[in-house]
Amino acid sequence: MMLSNGRAIYHNCFTFCEFAITFAKNNRMSSLFNKPKSIEFKNIKPVYRENLPKLYIETYGCQMNVSDSEVVASIMQSNGYVITERIEEADIVLINTCSIRDNAEQRVWGRLDIFRLEKKKRPSILVGVIGCMAERLREELMDHDKLVDLVVGPDAYRELPQLVRAAESGQKGINVLLSREETYAEISPIRLDKNGVSAFISIMRGCNNMCSYCVVPYTRGAERSRDPKTILREAEELFANGYREVTLLGQNVNSYRWKGQDEDTNFAELLEMVAQVSPSLRVRFSTSHPKDISDEVLYTIAMYENICNNIHLPVQSGSSRILKLMNRNYTRDFYMERIRAIRHILSDCSISTDIITGFCTETEEDHQDTLSLMEWVNFDFAYMFKYSERPNTKASRHLTDDVPEEIKTKRLNEIILLQHKLSELSKKKDVGKSFEVLVEGESKRSAEYYYGRTSYNKVVVFPKESCRIGDYIYVEISDCTPATLIGKIVEE
Ligand code: 5AD
Ligand code: SF4
Repeated sequence: MMLSNGRAIYHNCFTFCEFAITFAKNNRMSSLFNKPKSIEFKNIKPVYRENLPKLYIETYGCQMNVSDSEVVASIMQSNGYVITERIEEADIVLINTCSIRDNAEQRVWGRLDIFRLEKKKRPSILVGVIGCMAERLREELMDHDKLVDLVVGPDAYRELPQLVRAAESGQKGINVLLSREETYAEISPIRLDKNGVSAFISIMRGCNNMCSYCVVPYTRGAERSRDPKTILREAEELFANGYREVTLLGQNVNSYRWKGQDEDTNFAELLEMVAQVSPSLRVRFSTSHPKDISDEVLYTIAMYENICNNIHLPVQSGSSRILKLMNRNYTRDFYMERIRAIRHILSDCSISTDIITGFCTETEEDHQDTLSLMEWVNFDFAYMFKYSERPNTKASRHLTDDVPEEIKTKRLNEIILLQHKLSELSKKKDVGKSFEVLVEGESKRSAEYYYGRTSYNKVVVFPKESCRIGDYIYVEISDCTPATLIGKIVEE
């Protein structure tokens, strides 16, 4: 049996990497790992009680929004509401929204039309819009056919119970103030996931990068990091409740920095603290900005078996000219140098990315640069988008959205086709190897199969045998589809 282990550098030879890892290990500030003395483990699951008012919450957009909905659920549960998955029995309906592209917003307007039907049947229900659209479109939402009772931005969720009370007494509940401090640090999110195995932990909020196409700095405000003690407590709480994987979330996690009274904590140090919660707790993180992903972070990944060998590193474009217009603060060469560093320090690590096609002034040559960079990196996975101009961003104010729609579509299709090939190759090279897999749930296709993921973030489907959700097992890969690995459980 051939084991695929990204930490081969441990076992093979004493390289510079190994020296650096040992050095880093011995020189980390040990006081960073002092855990809080007494941890109060809270109830982190929804409670169901018939006689309490019910909150239904629907979430659109990124992982950060999923995480925010869990904070909202926690705030509302502490204020006497229970969570329901059935809109028909809800007293309050909240929609957590995304503004990143126009189609994300259109989807939300479509859902609001459905909520209107619900409100016609039961006029007493309250409808609230929260998240990025609330921030961006407060007036339009408030004027929307008298449907919306609450509009609450991403930094005002603590106010929700008061705003709901105001709305119940007939006033409009609105708060879209952005904050420089709010991180919801001490709130234990109510986990709304189904599997009870993997959870998100938000480690920071906002973004200071000001990429010219992006609305996030305007809807989520300035970047701020969360106290590492509260992050650690949340990871321990999750582990004690049976969770076996956490993903540390932020718009730009590599610029995480907490200024404590005695010492500062950077992202590499935080990652190490969380990895030390337990060797059985997998740690992932997202999203990394290429300009900030440091060798220190890469060495930290290499040091810990339980930090997953997968990096999501959005490139956006392969053309240095376009990257400059996007205000990304790196060039094609810089990005390639970071990929070389990942391959050198981690020896085996999957890399995924985000790509925007058809950005302002993009020529065929720029597009070809993106295709050639994709081939060079050999991305394992990519999220690919057509450029969507967002009002009031730098690009909308200073550049012209001049790539015709049909060219955007043609280029997007070419990018998708190439990525399809690369993703398939990435899966095919796993056939015949065995991987450690965390069992996450029952396969959607068959009750006789479970699914889980490898450290490289690839989904694996396999017959259940006697394992349980939350177990770590080894799976030998016998086949693959473009999206999934297929295998059977083997001895380690
Ligand atoms: N148009 C298209 N895609 C965008 N993204 C962000 N803003 C836009 C936009 N205006 C993409 C980027 C980012 C991902 C989360 O969404 O690729 O990394
Ligand atoms: Fe938007 Fe750029 Fe910040 Fe990502 S890093 S959220 S793309 S501004």
